[in-house]
Amino acid sequence: MGLKIWQNGELVDEAQAKVSVFDHGLLYGDGVFEGIRVYSGNIFEFEAHIDRLYESAKAIRLDIGMDKRPLMDATEETVKANEIEDGYIRLLVTRGVGDLGLNPFVCGKAGVIIIAANIQLYPEEFYETGLKVISANAVRTHPLTLPPQVKSLNYLNNILAKIEAIDHGVGEVVMYNPQGYVAEASGDNIFIIRKGELFTPPIQAGALDGITRQVVMKLARESGYTVTERNLTKFDLYIADECFLTGTAAEVIGVVEIDGRIVGDGKPGAVTKELRKKFFEYARS
Ligand SMILES: Cc1ncc(COP(=O)(O)O)c(C=O)c1O
Repeated sequence: MGLKIWQNGELVDEAQAKVSVFDHGLLYGDGVFEGIRVYSGNIFEFEAHIDRLYESAKAIRLDIGMDKRPLMDATEETVKANEIEDGYIRLLVTRGVGDLGLNPFVCGKAGVIIIAANIQLYPEEFYETGLKVISANAVRTHPLTLPPQVKSLNYLNNILAKIEAIDHGVGEVVMYNPQGYVAEASGDNIFIIRKGELFTPPIQAGALDGITRQVVMKLARESGYTVTERNLTKFDLYIADECFLTGTAAEVIGVVEIDGRIVGDGKPGAVTKELRKKFFEYARS
């Protein structure tokens, strides 16, 4: 039996959930989305994710066509209908059915889709051993081309970077902005630790305003660490004492090698492990 998918107001069987070939989400990657975790039946940082979705939509002049509360209710209904205890929600809003032209305003109502499913995680051993990463050749989309806060349906930039990771047999890639500063990984935010302090690129450097990033910054500060958002260079990564990535799927995962340079002693560092544990407890509390 397949999943129950919420689509435009009703729960339908997976096989019945369909998108038109004239939907601008398909034709142009015109739309926005969220990826949200469910821990023990609770939707993690639900309001923050919903706010980000509506802000992304506003930035691209996309009218979701429903208020936040009914969308949250529909999301909860979808999680329950699929009996998801620990899983992942994909909430998508497409521009809707238009024609072959670019004009988004000929599209009818926005298409709203909610998928609640089990989650594919990094294998547990990755958390023990840490990830190797390389610097991507694919440059992060210029913030003036598309604000990095917009979690849009067009991930081609990130996909090209991910292909580089796969080609090189590493877990992730670091993406740089057109000025050469670190932006983020292809699907995660990045932090380094140097002399006991945490540093992460500012959003303006071309990073998604990650919800996990925000939670980790809060938890780190509560634990007494200084966290500074500032531009980071490749050199900063190479000499970091520790490095980790944050994201909805990965949570907090250590990076142990960057472009062939070993980070710290080649294992996830003490601060990384502490914050991973704190995040784990916070998410499941
Ligand atoms: C490009 C990109 N950066 C960062 C993140 C991490 O954001 P979050 O912690 O909200 O999942 C994601 C994941 O959604 C992403 O796709």
